[in-house]
Amino acid sequence: MEQFVIKGGRPLVGTVEIGGAKNAALAILAASLMTDETVTIDNLPNVTDINALLEAIERIGGHIERTGPHTIKLNCAHIDSFNIDCECIRKIRASYYLLGALLGRYKRATVPLPGGCNIGNRPIDLHLKGFRSLGAKIDISHGMIIADSDNLIGSHIYLDSVSVGATINIMMAASMAKGNTVIENAAKEPHVVDTANFLNTMGANIKGAGTDVIRIRGVEKLHGTDYSIIPDQIEAGTFMFAVAAAGGDVTIKNVIPKHLESISAKLVEVGCEVTEFDDSVRIECKGRLSHTQVRTLPYPGFPTDMQPQMVVAIGMGDGTSIVTESIFENRFKYVDELTKMGASIKVEGNTAIINGVEGYTGARVAAPDLRAGAALVIAGLAADGITVIDDITFVERGYEGIERKLKNLGALIEKVTTEKQIQKFILKVS
Ligand code: UD1
Repeated sequence: MEQFVIKGGRPLVGTVEIGGAKNAALAILAASLMTDETVTIDNLPNVTDINALLEAIERIGGHIERTGPHTIKLNCAHIDSFNIDCECIRKIRASYYLLGALLGRYKRATVPLPGGCNIGNRPIDLHLKGFRSLGAKIDISHGMIIADSDNLIGSHIYLDSVSVGATINIMMAASMAKGNTVIENAAKEPHVVDTANFLNTMGANIKGAGTDVIRIRGVEKLHGTDYSIIPDQIEAGTFMFAVAAAGGDVTIKNVIPKHLESISAKLVEVGCEVTEFDDSVRIECKGRLSHTQVRTLPYPGFPTDMQPQMVVAIGMGDGTSIVTESIFENRFKYVDELTKMGASIKVEGNTAIINGVEGYTGARVAAPDLRAGAALVIAGLAADGITVIDDITFVERGYEGIERKLKNLGALIEKVTTEKQIQKFILKVS
């Protein structure tokens, strides 16, 4: 089993390039199933969640050609199965996008109930409510969602709570329904907009993505396109909080600064300097951070996917910080691991009360999920001594070459598989 071993205490300095957004890519790959023509997708991150979805698409007849490290050509003219049930797809949350894409195009799909990170109860009732409203019949049997319809008909759908997945899924299915669909209380995340833009370049007619009302006029056919995925806001934010925690001066390239506004604002509030350029941001952090209060919210609020990374940074801040998680019910599981490194955090329901400590000390910890795993990497970079992180497969679901990128910024980090390699690393860095 792979692990990261880190010797902390070095500031991060230099330039890092951000990859394509994993969560946009998952939706866009699924949407590529909706045409017979070839789709070229660029800026595709090479991470395990994406590769799992590509494997599932190949298994049902999609043809994938890798034409570059981050570019693929995808042709789905010969889809020969609408029942997707492989180990690969059970592992990822975004399997649900295959439902919207196949239902839109072929009017039927059978997909396992979604897996993904265990951060609380993650129902998909809003997705199913949307599909039913478009006229699909949905059954759940033996862990599979079975969707079927003679014809999808446009509808007026109000989402009871803001859901990224439900917004995108309904938008995909409605793109090929008969007539008009309105989604109210839609999610506004950058990847909702990116998926809408992608579908529009395929010939869909979607207006209002990025606001809370999305209007879709169904079309009969979608065509091929060339598309480049937006930069990953969460990967960029993770590097920003790594600098906040470990100190340093890093320019983060290939970002859309607007997507990082809530993150940048928080970092400035706790004492970092953030300078925005057209497609990069520079972050400089020296000395101890101050305390703050944060509540995670749908975009443009502070993202839940940045919550653990931020807690790690302000866990070493001066004073008491309060962080409220309002999106997922069980997203503080990593606090036990962070406590092993010296953090002083009390979790009460969906609130963490963080008494800033002067610093962390290296320890052996395990990544409980993707973003919390990245947060533990940040803690290791800031900690005094050696940190070993187990279960890094979680981290690799969403971060491409995180250790390589951190090494380029001066971090002492290695991916290892044996105790002997850990000892070798310790000898090398001491
Ligand atoms: C997506 C992201 C995830 C991010 C989250 C919130 C992907 C693959 N994952 O997840 O990284 O943390 O958005 O920004 O893009 N809910 C319901 N019923 C539903 C759907 C959602 O009650 O049918 C609830 C969820 O339990 C949660 C909230 O709505 O409390 C938001 O979830 P949602 O935005 O749907 O998140 P995901 O699409 O799962």
